[in-house]
Amino acid sequence: MKVAILGFGTVGSGVYKILTESADLIEKKAGERIEVKYVLDLREFPGNPVEEVLVHDYNVIVNDPEVAVVVETMGGLEPAYSFEKEALLKGKSACTSNKELVAKHGAELIEIAKQKKVSFLFEASVGGGIPIIRPLNSSLTCDVLEQIQGILNGTTNYILTKMSKEGLNFDDVLKDAQDKGFAERNPAADIEGYDAARKIAILASLAYGKQVDFEDVYTEGITKITPEDIAYAKAEGLKIKLIGQCLDVEGKHYASVAPRLIDDSNPLFAVDGVFNAIKVRGNYLGDTMFYGKGAGSLPTASAVVSDVIDAVKNNGRHIPILWSEKKLELADRKHLAARFFVRVNKADEELARKTFKVDKVVALDSLPNEFAFFTKQTTEGEFADGRQKLNVISAIRA
Ligand code: HSE
Repeated sequence: MKVAILGFGTVGSGVYKILTESADLIEKKAGERIEVKYVLDLREFPGNPVEEVLVHDYNVIVNDPEVAVVVETMGGLEPAYSFEKEALLKGKSACTSNKELVAKHGAELIEIAKQKKVSFLFEASVGGGIPIIRPLNSSLTCDVLEQIQGILNGTTNYILTKMSKEGLNFDDVLKDAQDKGFAERNPAADIEGYDAARKIAILASLAYGKQVDFEDVYTEGITKITPEDIAYAKAEGLKIKLIGQCLDVEGKHYASVAPRLIDDSNPLFAVDGVFNAIKVRGNYLGDTMFYGKGAGSLPTASAVVSDVIDAVKNNGRHIPILWSEKKLELADRKHLAARFFVRVNKADEELARKTFKVDKVVALDSLPNEFAFFTKQTTEGEFADGRQKLNVISAIRA
Protein backbone atom coordinates (compact mmCIF):
# COMPACT_ATOMS: atom_id res chain seq x y z
CA MET A 1 0.00 0.00 0.00
CA LYS A 2 1.50 3.33 -1.06
CA VAL A 3 1.04 6.55 0.86
CA ALA A 4 2.07 10.16 0.31
CA ILE A 5 2.86 12.77 2.95
CA LEU A 6 2.08 16.43 2.25
CA GLY A 7 4.54 18.60 4.19
CA PHE A 8 7.87 17.56 5.70
CA GLY A 9 7.72 19.82 8.75
CA THR A 10 7.51 18.89 12.44
CA VAL A 11 4.64 16.41 12.10
CA GLY A 12 5.26 15.24 8.50
CA SER A 13 8.87 14.32 9.21
CA GLY A 14 7.67 12.39 12.28
CA VAL A 15 5.14 10.48 10.14
CA TYR A 16 7.88 9.65 7.62
CA LYS A 17 10.21 8.49 10.42
CA ILE A 18 7.61 6.21 12.02
CA LEU A 19 6.39 4.74 8.72
CA THR A 20 9.93 3.93 7.59
CA GLU A 21 11.55 3.03 10.93
CA SER A 22 8.66 0.91 12.17
CA ALA A 23 7.60 -0.61 8.84
CA ASP A 24 7.70 -4.23 10.08
CA LEU A 25 5.49 -3.62 13.13
CA ILE A 26 3.13 -1.48 11.06
CA GLU A 27 2.90 -4.23 8.43
CA LYS A 28 1.74 -6.66 11.11
CA LYS A 29 -0.86 -4.22 12.45
CA ALA A 30 -2.12 -3.09 9.05
CA GLY A 31 -2.07 -6.50 7.42
CA GLU A 32 0.08 -5.31 4.57
CA ARG A 33 3.29 -3.40 3.89
CA ILE A 34 2.92 0.39 3.88
CA GLU A 35 5.41 2.31 1.80
CA VAL A 36 5.93 6.07 1.58
CA LYS A 37 5.95 6.69 -2.16
CA TYR A 38 6.05 10.51 -2.05
CA VAL A 39 6.72 13.37 0.32
CA LEU A 40 5.56 16.77 -0.93
CA ASP A 41 7.42 19.87 0.18
CA LEU A 42 8.53 23.08 -1.49
CA ARG A 43 11.96 22.79 0.12
CA GLU A 44 14.95 20.57 -0.66
CA PHE A 45 16.47 18.34 2.04
CA PRO A 46 20.02 17.64 0.83
CA GLY A 47 21.54 14.52 2.39
CA ASN A 48 18.24 13.41 3.95
CA PRO A 49 16.96 9.99 2.73
CA VAL A 50 13.60 11.68 2.12
CA GLU A 51 15.19 13.13 -1.04
CA GLU A 52 14.47 9.84 -2.81
CA VAL A 53 10.73 10.33 -2.51
CA LEU A 54 10.57 14.14 -2.44
CA VAL A 55 8.32 15.86 -4.99
CA HIS A 56 7.32 19.49 -5.40
CA ASP A 57 4.18 19.04 -7.49
CA TYR A 58 0.98 17.75 -5.87
CA ASN A 59 -0.33 16.56 -9.24
CA VAL A 60 2.30 13.81 -9.27
CA ILE A 61 0.68 12.41 -6.10
CA VAL A 62 -2.99 12.89 -6.81
CA ASN A 63 -2.70 11.50 -10.33
CA ASP A 64 -0.80 8.39 -9.25
CA PRO A 65 -3.35 5.55 -8.94
CA GLU A 66 -0.92 3.60 -6.76
CA VAL A 67 -1.22 6.14 -3.91
CA ALA A 68 -4.06 4.95 -1.64
CA VAL A 69 -3.64 7.29 1.34
CA VAL A 70 -2.72 10.98 1.35
CA VAL A 71 -1.48 12.29 4.70
CA GLU A 72 -1.69 16.06 5.16
CA THR A 73 0.61 17.62 7.76
CA MET A 74 1.07 21.08 6.27
CA GLY A 75 -1.30 22.99 8.54
CA GLY A 76 -3.40 26.01 7.53
CA LEU A 77 -6.53 25.95 5.41
CA GLU A 78 -5.03 26.23 1.95
CA PRO A 79 -3.78 24.40 0.05
CA ALA A 80 -4.44 21.66 2.64
CA TYR A 81 -8.21 21.75 2.02
CA SER A 82 -7.97 21.63 -1.78
CA PHE A 83 -5.35 18.86 -1.68
CA GLU A 84 -7.26 16.60 0.75
CA LYS A 85 -10.56 17.15 -1.05
CA GLU A 86 -9.02 16.32 -4.40
CA ALA A 87 -7.41 13.17 -2.96
CA LEU A 88 -10.79 12.00 -1.61
CA LEU A 89 -12.54 12.79 -4.89
CA LYS A 90 -9.93 10.67 -6.65
CA GLY A 91 -10.81 7.75 -4.34
CA LYS A 92 -7.86 8.01 -1.95
CA SER A 93 -8.21 8.00 1.83
CA ALA A 94 -7.05 11.18 3.57
CA CYS A 95 -5.53 11.58 7.03
CA THR A 96 -4.65 14.88 8.67
CA SER A 97 -3.30 16.45 11.83
CA ASN A 98 -4.72 19.85 10.83
CA LYS A 99 -7.30 21.16 13.32
CA GLU A 100 -8.04 24.28 11.25
CA LEU A 101 -8.95 22.09 8.29
CA VAL A 102 -10.99 19.64 10.36
CA ALA A 103 -12.87 22.31 12.35
CA LYS A 104 -13.86 24.14 9.15
CA HIS A 105 -14.34 21.37 6.58
CA GLY A 106 -14.42 18.11 8.55
CA ALA A 107 -18.08 17.31 7.91
CA GLU A 108 -17.81 17.96 4.17
CA LEU A 109 -14.67 15.82 3.82
CA ILE A 110 -16.27 12.96 5.78
CA GLU A 111 -19.26 13.10 3.40
CA ILE A 112 -17.03 12.98 0.30
CA ALA A 113 -15.10 10.06 1.83
CA LYS A 114 -18.39 8.24 2.40
CA GLN A 115 -19.50 8.71 -1.21
CA LYS A 116 -16.14 7.53 -2.51
CA LYS A 117 -15.94 4.54 -0.11
CA VAL A 118 -12.70 5.76 1.42
CA SER A 119 -11.93 7.33 4.82
CA PHE A 120 -11.18 10.78 6.18
CA LEU A 121 -9.39 10.43 9.52
CA PHE A 122 -8.03 13.09 11.88
CA GLU A 123 -7.00 11.58 15.23
CA ALA A 124 -4.05 13.99 15.60
CA SER A 125 -6.14 17.14 15.13
CA VAL A 126 -7.14 17.27 18.82
CA GLY A 127 -4.81 16.41 21.69
CA GLY A 128 -1.88 15.50 19.40
CA GLY A 129 -0.92 11.95 20.31
CA ILE A 130 -3.82 11.38 22.72
CA PRO A 131 -6.47 8.99 21.39
CA ILE A 132 -9.72 10.96 21.68
CA ILE A 133 -11.30 11.11 18.21
CA ARG A 134 -11.45 7.32 17.84
CA PRO A 135 -12.84 6.78 21.38
CA LEU A 136 -15.54 9.41 20.76
CA ASN A 137 -16.40 7.87 17.40
CA SER A 138 -16.14 4.18 18.25
CA SER A 139 -16.21 3.61 22.01
CA LEU A 140 -18.36 6.20 23.79
CA THR A 141 -21.32 5.61 21.55
CA CYS A 142 -24.20 4.61 23.82
CA ASP A 143 -23.90 7.42 26.37
CA VAL A 144 -25.26 10.94 26.27
CA LEU A 145 -22.01 12.89 26.52
CA GLU A 146 -23.08 15.35 29.17
CA GLN A 147 -19.77 17.13 29.51
CA ILE A 148 -16.40 17.22 27.78
CA GLN A 149 -13.72 19.26 29.54
CA GLY A 150 -10.23 19.49 28.15
CA ILE A 151 -6.87 21.09 28.60
CA LEU A 152 -6.45 21.29 24.85
CA ASN A 153 -3.53 23.64 24.45
CA GLY A 154 -0.03 22.88 25.68
CA THR A 155 1.34 26.40 25.30
CA THR A 156 -1.20 27.96 27.64
CA ASN A 157 -0.99 25.08 30.11
CA TYR A 158 2.79 25.51 30.22
CA ILE A 159 2.40 29.25 30.82
CA LEU A 160 -0.23 28.86 33.56
CA THR A 161 1.78 26.11 35.26
CA LYS A 162 4.94 28.21 35.27
CA MET A 163 3.08 31.32 36.48
CA SER A 164 1.66 29.23 39.30
CA LYS A 165 4.90 27.50 40.31
CA GLU A 166 7.16 30.55 40.05
CA GLY A 167 4.80 33.46 40.76
CA LEU A 168 5.81 35.13 37.48
CA ASN A 169 3.65 37.38 35.33
CA PHE A 170 2.15 36.40 32.00
CA ASP A 171 4.44 38.44 29.72
CA ASP A 172 7.64 37.12 31.29
CA VAL A 173 6.53 33.50 31.11
CA LEU A 174 5.36 33.90 27.51
CA LYS A 175 8.77 35.30 26.56
CA ASP A 176 10.51 32.41 28.32
CA ALA A 177 8.21 29.91 26.56
CA GLN A 178 9.00 31.51 23.19
CA ASP A 179 12.75 31.40 23.89
CA LYS A 180 12.48 27.69 24.72
CA GLY A 181 10.39 26.97 21.61
CA PHE A 182 7.25 26.02 23.57
CA ALA A 183 5.32 29.00 22.25
CA GLU A 184 5.08 30.33 18.72
CA ARG A 185 6.61 33.71 17.85
CA ASN A 186 3.03 34.69 16.98
CA PRO A 187 1.27 33.13 19.96
CA ALA A 188 -2.18 34.74 19.50
CA ALA A 189 -3.99 31.55 18.43
CA ASP A 190 -2.81 29.81 21.60
CA ILE A 191 -3.00 32.54 24.27
CA GLU A 192 -6.30 33.99 23.04
CA GLY A 193 -7.88 30.53 23.13
CA TYR A 194 -8.60 30.21 19.39
CA ASP A 195 -6.61 26.98 19.04
CA ALA A 196 -8.54 25.39 21.91
CA ALA A 197 -11.82 26.74 20.45
CA ARG A 198 -11.20 24.85 17.20
CA LYS A 199 -10.39 21.69 19.14
CA ILE A 200 -13.48 21.83 21.36
CA ALA A 201 -15.59 22.58 18.26
CA ILE A 202 -14.27 19.35 16.69
CA LEU A 203 -14.97 17.34 19.87
CA ALA A 204 -18.46 18.85 20.22
CA SER A 205 -19.24 18.11 16.57
CA LEU A 206 -18.30 14.46 17.12
CA ALA A 207 -20.12 14.25 20.45
CA TYR A 208 -23.38 15.68 19.06
CA GLY A 209 -23.10 14.49 15.45
CA LYS A 210 -23.63 17.94 13.92
CA GLN A 211 -21.44 20.84 12.85
CA VAL A 212 -20.40 23.07 15.75
CA ASP A 213 -18.78 26.16 14.26
CA PHE A 214 -15.71 27.29 16.17
CA GLU A 215 -16.79 30.89 15.63
CA ASP A 216 -19.81 30.14 17.87
CA VAL A 217 -17.67 28.91 20.77
CA TYR A 218 -17.52 31.46 23.60
CA THR A 219 -13.78 32.11 23.86
CA GLU A 220 -11.60 33.79 26.49
CA GLY A 221 -7.83 33.39 26.55
CA ILE A 222 -5.32 33.67 29.39
CA THR A 223 -3.73 37.06 28.66
CA LYS A 224 -5.56 38.76 31.53
CA ILE A 225 -4.59 36.22 34.21
CA THR A 226 -2.28 37.84 36.77
CA PRO A 227 -0.01 36.53 39.56
CA GLU A 228 -2.59 37.98 41.99
CA ASP A 229 -5.35 35.77 40.53
CA ILE A 230 -3.04 32.82 40.93
CA ALA A 231 -2.15 33.78 44.52
CA TYR A 232 -5.86 33.75 45.43
CA ALA A 233 -6.30 30.39 43.69
CA LYS A 234 -3.38 28.91 45.57
CA ALA A 235 -4.67 30.20 48.90
CA GLU A 236 -7.85 28.22 48.20
CA GLY A 237 -6.00 25.11 47.02
CA LEU A 238 -7.18 25.71 43.44
CA LYS A 239 -5.50 25.99 40.05
CA ILE A 240 -6.41 28.17 37.07
CA LYS A 241 -6.57 26.14 33.86
CA LEU A 242 -7.67 27.10 30.34
CA ILE A 243 -10.56 24.70 29.85
CA GLY A 244 -12.29 23.87 26.58
CA GLN A 245 -15.72 22.63 27.51
CA CYS A 246 -18.90 21.47 25.86
CA LEU A 247 -22.10 20.56 27.63
CA ASP A 248 -25.32 18.78 26.83
CA VAL A 249 -27.82 20.08 29.36
CA GLU A 250 -31.11 18.28 28.70
CA GLY A 251 -30.59 18.54 24.96
CA LYS A 252 -29.31 22.13 24.99
CA HIS A 253 -25.72 22.45 23.86
CA TYR A 254 -23.02 24.85 24.98
CA ALA A 255 -19.35 25.22 24.10
CA SER A 256 -16.69 27.48 25.57
CA VAL A 257 -13.02 28.07 26.15
CA ALA A 258 -12.21 30.04 29.29
CA PRO A 259 -9.88 30.08 32.28
CA ARG A 260 -11.48 28.17 35.15
CA LEU A 261 -10.61 27.55 38.77
CA ILE A 262 -10.57 23.84 39.47
CA ASP A 263 -9.92 21.85 42.61
CA ASP A 264 -8.09 18.57 43.10
CA SER A 265 -11.28 16.52 42.83
CA ASN A 266 -11.11 17.27 39.08
CA PRO A 267 -8.46 15.03 37.46
CA LEU A 268 -7.53 17.92 35.16
CA PHE A 269 -6.01 19.55 38.28
CA ALA A 270 -2.96 17.29 37.97
CA VAL A 271 -2.38 18.05 34.28
CA ASP A 272 0.57 20.43 34.25
CA GLY A 273 3.14 21.81 31.82
CA VAL A 274 2.77 21.04 28.13
CA PHE A 275 0.53 18.02 28.73
CA ASN A 276 -3.05 17.89 27.48
CA ALA A 277 -6.01 15.90 28.83
CA ILE A 278 -9.64 15.43 27.92
CA LYS A 279 -12.26 14.35 30.44
CA VAL A 280 -15.50 12.96 29.05
CA ARG A 281 -18.63 12.42 31.12
CA GLY A 282 -21.22 9.96 29.84
CA ASN A 283 -24.60 9.49 31.48
CA TYR A 284 -23.95 5.77 32.03
CA LEU A 285 -20.16 5.72 32.05
CA GLY A 286 -19.50 8.60 34.42
CA ASP A 287 -16.12 10.25 33.97
CA THR A 288 -13.24 8.96 31.86
CA MET A 289 -10.05 10.85 31.07
CA PHE A 290 -7.51 10.74 28.25
CA TYR A 291 -4.08 12.17 29.06
CA GLY A 292 -0.83 12.62 27.15
CA LYS A 293 1.27 14.72 24.84
CA GLY A 294 -0.86 17.18 22.90
CA ALA A 295 1.89 18.30 20.55
CA GLY A 296 5.38 17.45 19.32
CA SER A 297 6.67 15.65 16.26
CA LEU A 298 6.54 11.96 17.23
CA PRO A 299 3.50 11.95 19.60
CA THR A 300 1.41 13.74 16.95
CA ALA A 301 2.84 11.59 14.15
CA SER A 302 1.99 8.46 16.17
CA ALA A 303 -1.69 9.44 16.03
CA VAL A 304 -1.46 10.22 12.30
CA VAL A 305 0.13 6.84 11.57
CA SER A 306 -2.62 5.10 13.57
CA ASP A 307 -5.05 6.68 11.10
CA VAL A 308 -2.99 5.50 8.13
CA ILE A 309 -3.06 1.96 9.54
CA ASP A 310 -6.83 2.19 10.04
CA ALA A 311 -7.33 3.44 6.48
CA VAL A 312 -5.21 0.58 5.12
CA LYS A 313 -6.97 -2.03 7.28
CA ASN A 314 -10.28 -0.77 5.94
CA ASN A 315 -9.19 -0.40 2.32
CA GLY A 316 -12.21 -0.37 0.03
CA ARG A 317 -14.52 0.50 2.91
CA HIS A 318 -15.51 3.83 4.45
CA ILE A 319 -14.90 4.22 8.20
CA PRO A 320 -18.11 5.94 9.30
CA ILE A 321 -17.89 9.08 11.44
CA LEU A 322 -21.11 10.65 12.69
CA TRP A 323 -20.65 14.36 11.99
CA SER A 324 -23.24 15.87 9.67
CA GLU A 325 -22.82 19.16 7.84
CA LYS A 326 -26.05 20.36 9.48
CA LYS A 327 -25.18 23.21 11.83
CA LEU A 328 -25.84 22.77 15.52
CA GLU A 329 -27.18 25.97 17.05
CA LEU A 330 -25.65 26.42 20.47
CA ALA A 331 -28.02 27.55 23.24
CA ASP A 332 -27.98 31.08 24.66
CA ARG A 333 -25.38 31.13 27.44
CA LYS A 334 -27.46 33.65 29.41
CA HIS A 335 -29.29 30.85 31.21
CA LEU A 336 -26.26 28.66 31.79
CA ALA A 337 -25.50 28.02 35.46
CA ALA A 338 -22.15 29.44 36.55
CA ARG A 339 -20.14 30.38 39.60
CA PHE A 340 -17.44 33.04 39.62
CA PHE A 341 -14.46 34.13 41.66
CA VAL A 342 -14.52 37.94 41.63
CA ARG A 343 -12.08 40.67 42.71
CA VAL A 344 -13.18 44.28 43.26
CA ASN A 345 -11.71 47.24 45.13
CA LYS A 346 -12.32 47.18 48.88
CA ALA A 347 -14.24 50.47 48.47
CA ASP A 348 -16.77 48.60 46.28
CA GLU A 349 -17.51 45.88 48.84
CA GLU A 350 -20.97 47.14 49.70
CA LEU A 351 -21.96 47.57 46.06
CA ALA A 352 -20.55 44.13 45.25
CA ARG A 353 -22.58 42.57 48.06
CA LYS A 354 -25.72 44.25 46.69
CA THR A 355 -24.99 43.29 43.11
CA PHE A 356 -23.80 39.68 43.40
CA LYS A 357 -24.83 36.69 45.48
CA VAL A 358 -21.65 36.69 47.56
CA ASP A 359 -20.70 33.29 48.89
CA LYS A 360 -17.22 32.69 50.30
CA VAL A 361 -14.96 35.72 50.89
CA VAL A 362 -11.21 35.25 50.37
CA ALA A 363 -8.66 37.67 51.82
CA LEU A 364 -4.93 37.86 51.12
CA ASP A 365 -2.67 39.86 53.48
CA SER A 366 -0.72 41.01 50.45
CA LEU A 367 -3.82 42.61 48.85
CA PRO A 368 -5.51 44.54 51.69
CA ASN A 369 -7.26 46.98 49.32
CA GLU A 370 -9.34 44.30 47.62
CA PHE A 371 -12.60 42.51 48.30
CA ALA A 372 -12.50 39.05 46.72
CA PHE A 373 -15.20 36.41 46.82
CA PHE A 374 -16.86 33.46 45.15
CA THR A 375 -20.41 33.99 44.01
CA LYS A 376 -23.11 31.49 44.82
CA GLN A 377 -24.46 29.57 41.85
CA THR A 378 -25.75 32.18 39.39
CA THR A 379 -26.18 32.36 35.63
CA GLU A 380 -23.90 33.74 32.95
CA GLY A 381 -26.57 36.34 32.14
CA GLU A 382 -27.06 37.54 35.72
CA PHE A 383 -23.35 37.81 36.26
CA ALA A 384 -22.81 39.74 33.03
CA ASP A 385 -25.56 42.21 34.05
CA GLY A 386 -24.03 42.67 37.52
CA ARG A 387 -20.59 43.20 36.07
CA GLN A 388 -21.79 46.36 34.30
CA LYS A 389 -22.52 48.02 37.64
CA LEU A 390 -19.05 48.15 39.16
CA ASN A 391 -15.40 47.97 38.32
CA VAL A 392 -14.45 44.28 38.50
CA ILE A 393 -10.67 43.74 38.70
CA SER A 394 -11.04 40.18 37.52
CA ALA A 395 -13.65 37.44 37.31
CA ILE A 396 -12.83 33.78 36.72
CA ARG A 397 -15.32 30.94 36.43
CA ALA A 398 -15.12 28.45 39.27
N1 HSE B 1 -0.11 25.21 19.63
C1 HSE B 1 -0.68 23.96 20.04
C2 HSE B 1 -0.49 23.80 21.56
C3 HSE B 1 -0.01 22.83 19.29
O1 HSE B 1 0.19 24.62 22.18
O2 HSE B 1 -1.06 22.91 22.14
C4 HSE B 1 -0.83 21.59 19.19
O3 HSE B 1 -2.05 21.78 18.51
